[in-house]
Amino acid sequence: IPVDPFDLVLFGATGDLARRKILPSLFHRFQIAQFSPQSRIIGTSRSKLDKSGFQAFVAEAIREFGQEGETGEEDIAAFVQLLDYVPVDAKDDTGWLALKSHLRADVIRVFYLSVGPSLFPEIASRLSSCNIATPESRIVLEKPFGHDLGSAQALNGALRDHFDESQIYRIDHYLGKETVQNLMALRFANSLFEPLWNSTHIDHVQITVAESIGVAGRGEYYDRSGAMRDMVQNHLMQLLCLTAMEPPSRFTSNAVRDEKVKVIEALETVAQGDLARGQYRATPGSAVADSYLDHAGDPNSRTESFIAMKVQVANWRWAGTPFYLRTGKCLRARESEIAVYFRDPPHNIFEGADGVHGNVLVIRLQPDEGITLRTTIKDPGPGGMRLTGANLDMTFADSLPEAGRPQDAYERLIMDVIRGNQTLFMRGDEVEAAWAWADPIIDGWSQSGDAPQPYDRGGSGPEDSLLLMHRDNRRWRTIG
Ligand code: BG6
Repeated sequence: IPVDPFDLVLFGATGDLARRKILPSLFHRFQIAQFSPQSRIIGTSRSKLDKSGFQAFVAEAIREFGQEGETGEEDIAAFVQLLDYVPVDAKDDTGWLALKSHLRADVIRVFYLSVGPSLFPEIASRLSSCNIATPESRIVLEKPFGHDLGSAQALNGALRDHFDESQIYRIDHYLGKETVQNLMALRFANSLFEPLWNSTHIDHVQITVAESIGVAGRGEYYDRSGAMRDMVQNHLMQLLCLTAMEPPSRFTSNAVRDEKVKVIEALETVAQGDLARGQYRATPGSAVADSYLDHAGDPNSRTESFIAMKVQVANWRWAGTPFYLRTGKCLRARESEIAVYFRDPPHNIFEGADGVHGNVLVIRLQPDEGITLRTTIKDPGPGGMRLTGANLDMTFADSLPEAGRPQDAYERLIMDVIRGNQTLFMRGDEVEAAWAWADPIIDGWSQSGDAPQPYDRGGSGPEDSLLLMHRDNRRWRTIG
């Protein structure tokens, strides 16, 4: 469904995220005519580019980062006609009036801040004081949204001085991923799962976001964040919320977000003994031998590039069913999934046969998006009643080939901003609740001064992470 015409002002238009994600995503939505040539994209940054320089920059970005096989030159030429560029300095008066004169009165205005969070308050304030933002305008913010609870509250306060919460779109790109939304469809559009979706039937849940890349090129940012701030407080928290939340009464943005906030508020603080932190080290003899510390900028850095933890959701539905989360860099494979382990059948009638185990529902986020249900069946052939495991497998690309290329998360999220749909964006109270949970955990290890445990590149994380599971007589799923 096409969206209404808009003027989208992109702050940080020559930055890395704009080049890799935002601009190619806009291009692909234009390509399939989701928005019309009446829309405009106005790049701004401190760079002294002109319109044609920006057009050339964007064309190059699309060729490099657009979807393979879908970056025809004719389409690129048509798309760059929608672009304009105004040099603006967020920190002084440069360019603001020029920017205002580029905007039209009768279309939706979107201000997309693909800049560091320290610039959010300044830009919001100038958009308001120069009368560039209207009460219908939307403002989009990239992560990180704060560094802790205090900084997130300060950012929220500074934004709300000028914008209503209904105008604010805080991006967590995990919410734009196809399978993440499918998790809601799976739970709330099927009658099979929901009656079993509780601690009576579910033994535990494992949420894994494994990455094979390291921190090269962004060591300075990463060393101030670590895996907890970079991935857990936001992306893994969203996955946990969608898995654990109560069914909202309707699929509206506030109904969904109300339920997510309740999950975060029900989380118990994770004790230091229930977490494992790791830092990848050089692998001797390997072709890729750099370690985390080669990029951190601090040879004694205690920042974690891996974290695993056991999380308890203290409410009626989940008491007694732990959620195990883990994420890390330089692991064996890029693999993200949510695995729901159902309890073993209460009684084994197949005396002498081993292999009567609980079902496992795996929701694969990337790669090979899909859903697998591990079942137990009779081992075919002679030999009596022997049992074995078999998968009911659905890979979206195979099951729904007519759906074509999956949308990138940014394509979906930007179109949702234009439509005014906030369901897949984090509300201010949600971000603050997530920091309120994360802060004491981070403080705990800062105070103890414990260093993260080294782990080898290309593996599945540090020893402590395995022990965290063994202690509970459970095992992580294999990565890769
Ligand atoms: C970003 C983190 O938010 O998400 C990165 O800052 C991480 O460190 C990235 O690599 C992972 O996103 P995706 O979509 O590749 O899983």
